[in-house]
Amino acid sequence: MNNRMVQEVIYHNFGRRKGYFQVTSTPLVGPDGHSQTLVLIQDITDMKRMEEQMMHSEKLSALARISAGVAHEIGNPLTSISSYVQILREMEHDEFTRESLDTIAKHINRITDIVRQMSSFSKTATSDLKPHDVHELVALTLDLVKYDKRLKNIQINLDIPEALPGVIVNETQSIQVFMNIILNAADAMASGGILDIKAERLDREVEVSFSDTGPGISAENLEKIFDPFFTTKEKGTGLGLAVSYNIIKSYRGDIVVEIKPEGGTIFKVRLPYHEI
Ligand SMILES: Nc1ncnc2c1ncn2[C@@H]1O[C@H](COP(=O)(O)OP(=O)(O)O)[C@@H](O)[C@H]1O
Ligand SMILES: [Mg+2]
Repeated sequence: MNNRMVQEVIYHNFGRRKGYFQVTSTPLVGPDGHSQTLVLIQDITDMKRMEEQMMHSEKLSALARISAGVAHEIGNPLTSISSYVQILREMEHDEFTRESLDTIAKHINRITDIVRQMSSFSKTATSDLKPHDVHELVALTLDLVKYDKRLKNIQINLDIPEALPGVIVNETQSIQVFMNIILNAADAMASGGILDIKAERLDREVEVSFSDTGPGISAENLEKIFDPFFTTKEKGTGLGLAVSYNIIKSYRGDIVVEIKPEGGTIFKVRLPYHEI
């Protein structure tokens, strides 16, 4: 039928979650000669989500390819610049020059940070997957962040049952994911708050959830937080969650985010487990 009209309509489900309807209208002439219109409304939200997810993983794999090259090409000269700046800084007595070198060093650190995070895109994520104890992974992560001043005013509550099955992950990577989520929560609670870390056994996965008492995330930003380079922070890289997403997906796990009605954000990391 030629004069059929197809339209996609976005609706906002309960104010937070976006959905899509496809509205197809087809003019018809009824048996009595009157024109009529047949309107078909389909909920295509799931299909759209899958499309979006596919686009997202394509973006990530393109980024992984670029990152491998960039990280290598930029990383080496950067190390060299950084050591020269340090040497000059130590030799210099002029106040202005020292301050300038400090500023240069600060900017170099930022670039180094971005390069380091970008290079973790390119690592083959499926290497070295073994069963790991969730309790231990969380403890190792907290050990790494315990001196970070962002966590100073944050109370961390742990609720991780001892008898959980081991999750099949790479230790370093999963610690990196937990750390990204914990530091994001800390950033969101700059003037203090509570972070609840819980683990729970689901059907085929162990779910580790991180629930904070920060301001939450707006509906508009919620769609973008896993995109590479999306950040709302002045000094953010926007790579933490994109890298984390990539890592968890490579384990065939999942990482989802929920906004609490009373404010605050929950990140849920679902990791496939191995029955021991
Ligand atoms: N717990 C959280 N509460 C509020 N916003 C968050 C939280 N975690 C992540 N975000 C949002 O997601 C964005 C992307 O996070 P991330 O990828 O880690 O990059 P970065 O931390 O460098 O900004 C953040 O800039 C922030 O806007
Ligand atoms: Mg981050």
